[in-house]
Amino acid sequence: MTKDISGLDLRRLEMCTADLHSLVDLQDKIIAGFKPDEQHFILHRTLDDFSNALKSDHMYVFGLFDKNRLVSQSILSLPGNNDKRELEEFAFQRPNEDLAVYKAVLVDPQYRGRGLMKRMLKIREEVAISAGRKLAITQIAADNPASWVNAIQYGMNIARVDYDPEDNAKVIYLQKSLDGSTDYNLDMSRPYVLSLGTDVHKNVPILFNKMMKLSNDGFVGTGWDKDNNSIVWYPRVEIRQPIDMMLKSDEYSK
Ligand SMILES: CC(C)(COP(=O)(O)OP(=O)(O)OC[C@H]1O[C@@H](n2cnc3c(N)ncnc32)[C@H](O)[C@@H]1OP(=O)(O)O)[C@@H](O)C(=O)NCCC(=O)NCCS
Repeated sequence: MTKDISGLDLRRLEMCTADLHSLVDLQDKIIAGFKPDEQHFILHRTLDDFSNALKSDHMYVFGLFDKNRLVSQSILSLPGNNDKRELEEFAFQRPNEDLAVYKAVLVDPQYRGRGLMKRMLKIREEVAISAGRKLAITQIAADNPASWVNAIQYGMNIARVDYDPEDNAKVIYLQKSLDGSTDYNLDMSRPYVLSLGTDVHKNVPILFNKMMKLSNDGFVGTGWDKDNNSIVWYPRVEIRQPIDMMLKSDEYSK
């Protein structure tokens, strides 16, 4: 166990009764705190699901502990080319061996706002890079801005906004290059600034429609403008549209 910069202890969890029960207990606590319309924010994993993740040869389950209490957990999947991988509908042009899939990160409500989610993004990124992975990918519910804003702040790009093919939920697909290469070139001369407004939770339905339109028009949400509470988007260069259409902000505010 290593003492982390967060002041907590960070370690990879193992297949043992104590770790298994800690994972289930933290998940249950978080689910119990969700409102009915937030239940889909995370997959509700069973004891068997956690047990399979702990036993898997390509999954890493990380935990942050305050003394013996698990206060944050996350899963990293590094699928092999012969494994069935998560998010098959996204980054399908890449072989599995290029990818690192970030799965549910959970933070105990009493420990939120202290950077623990970002810490979990960092540890998974470090492990993925050391395993030679080239692209990190994740999917986040559109109505969970606490999570996707955080991922953007951490340098992930919104590469697609869509409906989940399994349950039709509104979702955001994010990715981050881990080796400096890119899947697309962006036209940096044509930014589109999307304000999240003063109440991002309330604005989610409108934001989802705007982001899906941007995504369908070939834009990638690349950066976070903290001062203006906005996401900065750029068009992929291969997308050709009349320049006046691109610059018309109100095109996306309908
Ligand atoms: C989403 C979650 C993991 C964030 O964890 P966290 O440790 O509090 O996040 P961090 O401290 O690393 O980051 C804080 C940033 O997240 C964002 N954020 C966190 N809570 C937020 C909220 N309620 N509304 C909007 N943004 C929020 C903000 O951008 C904040 O940045 P700021 O401090 O500059 O304002 C946590 O709220 C959680 O466990 N939620 C329930 C489970 C869940 O939804 N998991 C994600 C599944 S994809």
